[in-house]
Amino acid sequence: MRATHIIELKKRGIELTEQQISFIVNGYVKGEVPDYQMSAFLMAVCLKGMSSAETAFLTNAMLLSGDTVDLSSFGALSADKHSTGGVGDKTTLIVAPIVSSLGCIVAKMSGRGLGHTGGTIDKLESIDGFCTDLSHEEFLSQIKRIGIAVIGQTGNLVPADKMIYALRDATATVDSISLIASSIMSKKLAGGAKNIVLDVKYGAGAFMKTKTQAEKLAKEMISIGEAFNRNVSTLITNADAPLGYAVGNSLEVIEAVQVLKGEMRGEIRDLCVDLASNMLMLSLGWDEEYAVQRANEEIDSGRAFSQMKKWVAAQGGNEEMLENTDLFIKAPYIYEVKSEKEGYIEQINAEKIGLASCMLGAGRTKKEDNIDMFAGILFKIKVSDYVKEGCTLATLHTSNKALIKHAEKLFYEALSFSPSPAESSKNA
Ligand code: URA
Repeated sequence: MRATHIIELKKRGIELTEQQISFIVNGYVKGEVPDYQMSAFLMAVCLKGMSSAETAFLTNAMLLSGDTVDLSSFGALSADKHSTGGVGDKTTLIVAPIVSSLGCIVAKMSGRGLGHTGGTIDKLESIDGFCTDLSHEEFLSQIKRIGIAVIGQTGNLVPADKMIYALRDATATVDSISLIASSIMSKKLAGGAKNIVLDVKYGAGAFMKTKTQAEKLAKEMISIGEAFNRNVSTLITNADAPLGYAVGNSLEVIEAVQVLKGEMRGEIRDLCVDLASNMLMLSLGWDEEYAVQRANEEIDSGRAFSQMKKWVAAQGGNEEMLENTDLFIKAPYIYEVKSEKEGYIEQINAEKIGLASCMLGAGRTKKEDNIDMFAGILFKIKVSDYVKEGCTLATLHTSNKALIKHAEKLFYEALSFSPSPAESSKNA
């Protein structure tokens, strides 16, 4: 078998066999297939697509490239969630305590932020002392004790995805449904959960720009999950604008705490209850109405917040910071962005806001970059709000004063105004 032959077949749109797909993936991981051949293969996949069978073979080849976590001793109780990437998405911090407080097992490996999107691990590390690097034994013993543990990706979890994803990032081959589905599902399968809930995003801040593409991606991931004997449910959600008011690590933890304390209602709580109820339906067999009711009760009773404190303390974090969020260090520079116009907020482009937050220090452009835990953007407005000239739209938080002007420029570029309310709010 030769890599060039496999690339040639895919270039002509011919369906590949399991052996051919394993050959190219294994060869790449072993260093026998060079970057330029893998890049050509990935571009051929982007342009010609893959059948569902090929996507499942690709997922399996990536899954087999490294370690897997065995959660079979928890039976049907283990549940995981994954978002296909967003700006201001702090849902794991809210959903994981809700469902684990109700008896689901959440043994989760999360990622760090890269580019304009944030990562759960960075957010958790903004809590003093929180350790995201547990040994395998510590991880399992914490799950048995309190039903929840969240750690960073272990060194050898799906190494094929780590290598291929880095190459995709550099070769404009990210936005392929087969490549995204296999990348996400290989990691979810390796994580070991029996039940998987996927929040598939579309819009300006997402890889899938249209709802139809997101639905296709969701269908592909469900079929992979079924082929591997997992229960998968999907939500299709819009990611044109950032989720909630906070973008940036500690700012997002504080917002998550506000939701868990019952102090914040609206889109984040609604999405989290939706995600949580899907996890509860799959792992505990509840019907939708009951699952939604129990998820809401868990927040309103304070039990979900207590569970978050228990979880943070178990991983060495200072749970006092959750009780009193004033204990989070504030960025030395907090700058108010004033509106230059009057009118209705028509759009807040999530990708540009993610980049502005990154520029302030909240994200990385390269894996090795250090991040500023307290940097980010705190909005005072949402899409459809009416604003007057000179009113505060948001505050920019950073440790580096020199970055503010550039971030402010990008912030303004993310916003568009309209003289009349958006269609949806006219009807509201
Ligand atoms: N998230 C992933 O883990 N992989 C992709 O390919 C896209 C989003």
